[in-house]
Amino acid sequence: MDASGGYDEYGSIADLYDHVVPYRDRADVGFFVDAARSAGSPVLEVGCGTGRVLIPTARAGVDVVGLDLAPRMLAVCRERLQLEPEPVQRRARLVQADMRRFELGEAFTLATVPFRPFQHLLTVEDQLSCLASIRAHLIDGGRLILDLFNPSLDMLANLRIGEEGGEEPEFTTPDGRRVVRRHRTVAEDRFGQVNDFELIYYVSHPDGRQERLVHAFPMRYLFRFEAEHLLARAGFEVEHLYADFDRHPYGSMYPGDLVFVARRSNG
Ligand SMILES: C[S@@+](CC[C@H](N)C(=O)[O-])C[C@H]1O[C@@H](n2cnc3c(N)ncnc32)[C@H](O)[C@@H]1O
Repeated sequence: MDASGGYDEYGSIADLYDHVVPYRDRADVGFFVDAARSAGSPVLEVGCGTGRVLIPTARAGVDVVGLDLAPRMLAVCRERLQLEPEPVQRRARLVQADMRRFELGEAFTLATVPFRPFQHLLTVEDQLSCLASIRAHLIDGGRLILDLFNPSLDMLANLRIGEEGGEEPEFTTPDGRRVVRRHRTVAEDRFGQVNDFELIYYVSHPDGRQERLVHAFPMRYLFRFEAEHLLARAGFEVEHLYADFDRHPYGSMYPGDLVFVARRSNG
């Protein structure tokens, strides 16, 4: 929450998001664009953020609605869309809403949740409520692609609480800020499967000023069968489970990702 009581978890880093090297280079865009092309318009992207996947989807000729709760992420997405040719702009629509409960009044061929927004939901109640909202927006036989990380047991067992690590390649923003990012886990809840995580941005401004920006958030991890049970409870049949975006099957690498392709079941 920000000072005015609104959701602002991504607010302080929204203008950095697209430049972060592991986000910029994340190898999932082609996978989601192919899925959108095969499903056909209209597609719903839940937790669309700055449009990393949404904009290439609209460029590929698919009508797409992007839903996100964070006004500043949506603002960046809107600015990026304004730089696109008119037909691309017309194919994309943005909605500020909470993925736990939304009503858009239209049905989609495909709903996608790229890069783990679902893991911002901390309770089974919120997870089911989100899946129910998504299901209610799918046509008969419509599909959901849910992208989660597969929790590594080694990593969970060996977390060094409070210790900063994971330095990434430095990046430079268009206005000349040089940024190095690190991360740390500040608390773990093994029973609730929630870790409190911080992404820490060390920013060197062109005038020499130094800044330390902290993007702090809790993240819920889900195991494979837990996610499958959730999907079944929410009225989805899993058709594929991939370990990565090259469609390697789950189990072919560890830990890999959990990329579910599920079909809205009848009834
Ligand atoms: C890691 S970003 C992913 C953004 C985008 N899908 C991508 O692939 O780059 C997670 C996004 O989920 C959004 N989010 C988190 N909780 C949400 C909620 N309850 N409802 C809607 N969006 C939410 C955040 O605002 C953020 O934009």
